[in-house]
Amino acid sequence: MKIELVNIHKRYGAVVANEGVNLTIAAGEIRGLLGENGAGKTTLMRILSGYTFADAGRILLDGVEHHPSSPADAIRAGVGMLHQDPMDVPQLSVLDNFGLGQSGGLYRRRRPMLASLEHLCQRFGFKLDPEAVVGSLTVGERQQLELARLLALGARTIILDEPTTGISAPQKALLFDALKHLAQEGLSVVFVSHKLDEVQSLCDSVTVLRKGRNVGELEAPFDADGLVHLMFGQQLPAGARPVVPIDGGALEVRQLSVRDHRLSLDGVDLHVRRGEVLGLAGLEGSGQQLLMQAIAGIVRPRAGSILLGTEDLAGRPYGAFRDRGVALVPAARLEEGMIPGLSLREHFALCHHCGHGLVLDWPAADSLTREQIAAFHIVGQPLTAVDKLSGGNQQRALLALLPAELTVLLLEHPTRGLDVSSAQWIWSNLLARRERGTALIFTSTDLDELLQYSDRIMVFSGGRVSAPVDAPTVTVQELGYLIGGRGL
Ligand SMILES: Nc1ncnc2c1ncn2[C@@H]1O[C@H](COP(=O)(O)OP(=O)(O)O)[C@@H](O)[C@H]1O
Ligand SMILES: [Mg+2]
Repeated sequence: MKIELVNIHKRYGAVVANEGVNLTIAAGEIRGLLGENGAGKTTLMRILSGYTFADAGRILLDGVEHHPSSPADAIRAGVGMLHQDPMDVPQLSVLDNFGLGQSGGLYRRRRPMLASLEHLCQRFGFKLDPEAVVGSLTVGERQQLELARLLALGARTIILDEPTTGISAPQKALLFDALKHLAQEGLSVVFVSHKLDEVQSLCDSVTVLRKGRNVGELEAPFDADGLVHLMFGQQLPAGARPVVPIDGGALEVRQLSVRDHRLSLDGVDLHVRRGEVLGLAGLEGSGQQLLMQAIAGIVRPRAGSILLGTEDLAGRPYGAFRDRGVALVPAARLEEGMIPGLSLREHFALCHHCGHGLVLDWPAADSLTREQIAAFHIVGQPLTAVDKLSGGNQQRALLALLPAELTVLLLEHPTRGLDVSSAQWIWSNLLARRERGTALIFTSTDLDELLQYSDRIMVFSGGRVSAPVDAPTVTVQELGYLIGGRGL
């Protein structure tokens, strides 16, 4: 089925998710949709499949304008979407889930439904027990079931949103074979991904989204350098690095294992020197945050050492890290960094322990706050509530609240969402700390920022970590490959 998306616009409040996107997919084509986190891929596909609506733009299916009013409406028109997280009903059996959305209700027409399921499974080599409870299936099996269900409902376009996260290699091979088969039969497939090798092995063509826009399309065989270039943009010349003596160890991490409910990092080794800037690259959620939280003492590692000087702090409480000069500036400034509703003055009073015991010395807090407002160029008054500050001023305030001397300063996305001049100011402040010997470790999804400010860069991909690479010599291509999961 031919799909045409014309000039699609979609905003969420101030966030522009899609901005004038045009996309045409021919019948029988497997189209890759590539882009970094937040590029607008899922939003665009949700619009096409009836899960949300565009603010403006047109959708044509086989040349006929049709704006799906719901997922059921989209599937009636032939468009079905497999979501990143399974949307099935885990308590029901495979067969009952397969029947969802089919006319005739849950318990009627079991026999034809069974025949149809078995036929589809046979066709694609899926091994699904019709009576098994869906909650007991693997992610890969649930995906097979969902694909079979959409096909039984008459889908002629299949959209898959990052379908290979959490499935096994054999399941992935089976899925890719099934998609190639379907394309040969004239179905259209949209394969949303950020993994270059998968797009290269599966897709006939690829569209790259960046910041909500279609920034380019390529036909197979893909020039991988071209893909990386489209995804991440041009490389700026590396910034002039201040000459800072990098000497002595600030932090050493040995064989660290740490996990949260989604992800585990294992056997991480890392040595950061005084005055060094280490950039952590990778798509969000690849393990960078977890490592930073472990180094800051917020998340307790399962194994390994975190050495500050000669002292191993692994397993010690957060306060032990703080007392030795380790601080983390979180990405969620208002949720984790500051207290909404409290003023700047209250924040400075709390952080700098103005006064004695429970009695706060407000005049002292006031003069400290005024000094810091001036020193950090914060646009605000001592009594301004922090949630009333702009993003750039919140970030300045967070830096102003940190102790003046730190051993290791960890920052999540220090300039995300800031305008260029605020971002420059933040970096000049950070680099001044670095000159005083503080080791800086920061995450960013902006490759230019990573290359410009880091001495070394480590790349994270799905919980795997690269050895640090030297920022002055690495190319944007090499980084792009590592971020896309190659060579790790
Ligand atoms: N339901 C929503 N509410 C608010 N913002 C959203 C919503 N869905 C997506 N966004 C925002 O829109 C942008 C694009 O998101 P998304 O389409 O999920 O990107 P991708 O799938 O490429 O990672 C992001 O900035 C995201 O935070
Ligand atoms: Mg997405």
